[in-house]
Amino acid sequence: MDTSCPRFSVRTFGCQMNKHDAERVAGMLSAAGMHAADEVEQADVIVFLTCCVRENADERLEGQVASLKALKRRRPEVLIAVGGCIGQRDGTELLRALPHVDVVFGTHNLGRLPALLARARESSTPVVEVLGGSDEFTSDLPSEREHRWHAWVPIAVGCDNFCSYCVVPYVRGPERSRHAEDVVEEVRSLVADGVLEVTLLGQNVNSYGRDLYGEPQFARLLGAVAQTGIRRIRFATSHPKDLSEDTIRVMSQTPEVCRALHLPVQSGSDHVLESMNRRYTSSAYLGLVDRLYRAMPDLALSTDIIVGFPGETAEDFEATLDLVRAARFDQAFTFIYSSREGTAAAALGPRVPRDVAQERFDRLVSEVQRQALAKNKALLGSVQAILVEGASKRDATVLAGRSEGNKVVHARAPGDSPDSLAGTFVDVRITEAHTWFLSGELAGGHTGIQAG
Ligand code: 5AD
Ligand code: SF4
Repeated sequence: MDTSCPRFSVRTFGCQMNKHDAERVAGMLSAAGMHAADEVEQADVIVFLTCCVRENADERLEGQVASLKALKRRRPEVLIAVGGCIGQRDGTELLRALPHVDVVFGTHNLGRLPALLARARESSTPVVEVLGGSDEFTSDLPSEREHRWHAWVPIAVGCDNFCSYCVVPYVRGPERSRHAEDVVEEVRSLVADGVLEVTLLGQNVNSYGRDLYGEPQFARLLGAVAQTGIRRIRFATSHPKDLSEDTIRVMSQTPEVCRALHLPVQSGSDHVLESMNRRYTSSAYLGLVDRLYRAMPDLALSTDIIVGFPGETAEDFEATLDLVRAARFDQAFTFIYSSREGTAAAALGPRVPRDVAQERFDRLVSEVQRQALAKNKALLGSVQAILVEGASKRDATVLAGRSEGNKVVHARAPGDSPDSLAGTFVDVRITEAHTWFLSGELAGGHTGIQAG
């Protein structure tokens, strides 16, 4: 690496939108002549992309930025920038807790980061730029992908749902969709660039297009993206109230669309769901899950669940456990409710005591793990197409990749070193099922399709 070149480091907390934003920040800073630093200590510019959906992201940001104080003292020319949801929410306020931050930006002006950094370099005072909102969908920024065969493709930003616990509608603004032709065109050029898998991103992909076309057009968009030559399509996140029968049909009939669905349920109690403003009941959710499994018996289903929502009783929590058993989730991201200023739920009571919430959380995690293991055991003996990511972290002779259901799969790679198979598909016969990964043996070699 050319050591005279200025170097950057991008760190993210939170959702996939942040990971995508991180690739765009890396792309912009590279286009401006900088290189990625191997270690944060060597970076000249350190960018934090943050999420304020839950409290612990705030705490982690403060901890990490505070730990850079010593670096800043040694090398005062280092610039620290904080953006994303926390930047959007706190603006200038952020400088009170973290005075050694040089640039604060929001969720609507990512593309301005190089200019803001340049301004900060020239001035001795911090630069804060947070915009109220943008009508424009800023999608055409350069991007530096983590894996050359995978790309995040935003199809909509913002959210109109106002779930009572959630800060996203306030920090990301109303839902704005990207024109279908632009999405398809982007995927086409990604395919030409060697990309095999895209993940379509939006807070609620199922309502994609409502703002542009008057009605949701997600099923049609999926069909169009599948025609581009892309091998695998994933998408997140789906709101149960908006997941259409058309989308289920396209998923089940289109081989390029992975049979993997992230469908946050949040709670199994109707009274909690109502006060969360989710606009479905637990039986409506389970009915939807039933239709999904009937259309796709091998569907991998994941979810998000919050415990300790204000007013959640022991009975409500039991209803959540019942739902987890009935839905047979492959994976669930579980959260203890954290009150977010400005949201409707912040005013609700009674609060669930921390120790009660923790106890429920632990029981929920055990149940989720039991379900995940049962789902994985059902795959024993099956052959799964795996997109190889490289050698497994623990053993350089073992390859690691992802199945269509987005599960981590390990297999010994005889002859071939795993890294030379990165970005190709291999078939693996599953011989061992664990809670969070599967192991198996190569079955019938690999397809030889290499990412560019
Ligand atoms: N407290 C706890 N979890 C939350 N989530 C969103 N807001 C909160 C909150 N205030 C969770 C939801 C959502 C996921 C991205 O984060 O489960 O689906
Ligand atoms: Fe938040 Fe609900 Fe919108 Fe998801 S759908 S981003 S939980 S308001």
